[in-house]
Amino acid sequence: MSSALRIGLIGAGWVTQYHLQAWQKLAGEAQVIAIADPSADNVAARADAFGIAQRFASAQEMLAGCDLDAVDIAAPRAVHAELVRMVAERGLPVICQKPLAPTLAEAEALAHDVAGRTRLMVHENWRFRDYYRDAAGWIRDGRIGQITAARLTLVTSGTILDFNGQYPALARQPFMRGETRMLVAEVLIHHLDTLRMLLGPLDVTAATLTQTCTEIAGEDGAVIQMQSQDGAGVSLFATFAAHGAPPSQSDRLEILGKAGAIRLEGSELQLFGAQGETRSYDLAASYQGSYDATIAHFVDALHSGAPFETSPEDNLQTLRLVEDCYRLSGRENRT
Ligand SMILES: NC(=O)c1ccc[n+]([C@@H]2O[C@H](COP(=O)([O-])OP(=O)(O)OC[C@H]3O[C@@H](n4cnc5c(N)ncnc54)[C@H](O)[C@@H]3O)[C@@H](O)[C@H]2O)c1
Repeated sequence: MSSALRIGLIGAGWVTQYHLQAWQKLAGEAQVIAIADPSADNVAARADAFGIAQRFASAQEMLAGCDLDAVDIAAPRAVHAELVRMVAERGLPVICQKPLAPTLAEAEALAHDVAGRTRLMVHENWRFRDYYRDAAGWIRDGRIGQITAARLTLVTSGTILDFNGQYPALARQPFMRGETRMLVAEVLIHHLDTLRMLLGPLDVTAATLTQTCTEIAGEDGAVIQMQSQDGAGVSLFATFAAHGAPPSQSDRLEILGKAGAIRLEGSELQLFGAQGETRSYDLAASYQGSYDATIAHFVDALHSGAPFETSPEDNLQTLRLVEDCYRLSGRENRT
C-alpha cells in the first residue's frame, strides 16, 4: 500500500479524542477521512477539531458513501458485533474497541463469523502502556526469575459523591451509569488483559463483585483471585468506591519472583534484584501513548501482514476471565 490508508471512524464519543490524536500521529500512513455517529453534536465536535471532511449519521451511510481502506469502531459495546459484521461484509479490516461484545458467547460467535472474511483487531490498549511493556521486558529477560505471586490494585473514589455533587467516574464517562456489567467488563478487562500479557495464561479461581454506589446499575468493587500456569498466585483488588482515595485511576502493581521483584507505584516502576533499576513515566503521556501504540500496531500489521497481538483469539482469553468473574460471583446473567 503506497498512499495513506483511508480510515472511517464509527463513534464520536469520549474515547475518540485519544483515537484521533493517535491517527494524527500516523499522518502520511493513514488518515481518518470519515466519521459516523447518530449524535450530530459529537460528529461536529470531533470532525471540526480534527479536520474530518466526511460526516455521517450512521455507519451504514458511511460505508455506502465512502471509499475506505479500514475502519475504527469506538461505539458502545452493545453495537460492536453488528458494526464489525457490517464492516466485515465489505471485506474491510477493522479495529474494534473493547469489550468486543457484551458477553463471551456473543464475542465467540462474532469471532467465528468474521474469521477468514476480514482482519479484526481488538482495541485493547492498556497492555501497550510503556511501563507495562518495560515490566514485560524485565520478566522476559529473566530479571526477576520465576514468578511466585503478583497483585494489581486500582483504588479510586470514582463512584463516591464529591464536593461538587458529582460522581467523578460518571461525570467522566456517563454511560457507566447504565452498564449492568460495569467495573470488570468496562475497566478491569484491561487489567486482566495486562496481567495475561505479563504473566501468561491465567485461571480465575474466585471472584467477589460488590456494588456500593446506588446510582449505577453494575458493580463498582471486585476482589479477584487467579492462578498462573506456573502456579503463581495472582490477585486483582479494585474499587471505585474507596473513601479518601483519588477520583481517577492509577494502577499499583507488585510482581514477586524468585530472583527479584517489580513494583509500579504512581509514575515509578522499580526493579529489585541483582541489578536494580527505577524508571519514571509521564502518566498522561503514557495514557495517550497506549492509544498511539495500539493504532500504530494495527496499521503496521495491515502493511506487513503480521498477526495482531490482540487478535480475536487472544482477546477471547481475556473475555473468558471477565466471564468467569461474573460467573463465580453469581452475576453471570447481568448483560
Ligand atoms: N480502551 C480504553 O481505554 C477505553 C476508554 C474508554 C472507552 N472505551 C470503549 O470505547 C467505546 C466507547 O466509549 P466512549 O467512552 O467513547 O463512550 P461515549 O458514550 O462517550 O460515546 C459513544 C458514542 O457512540 C455513539 N454511538 C452509539 N451508537 C452508535 C452506532 N450504532 N454507530 C455509531 N456511533 C454510535 C454515541 O452517539 C456516542 O457518541 C466503548 O466500547 C468503551 O468501552 C475504551
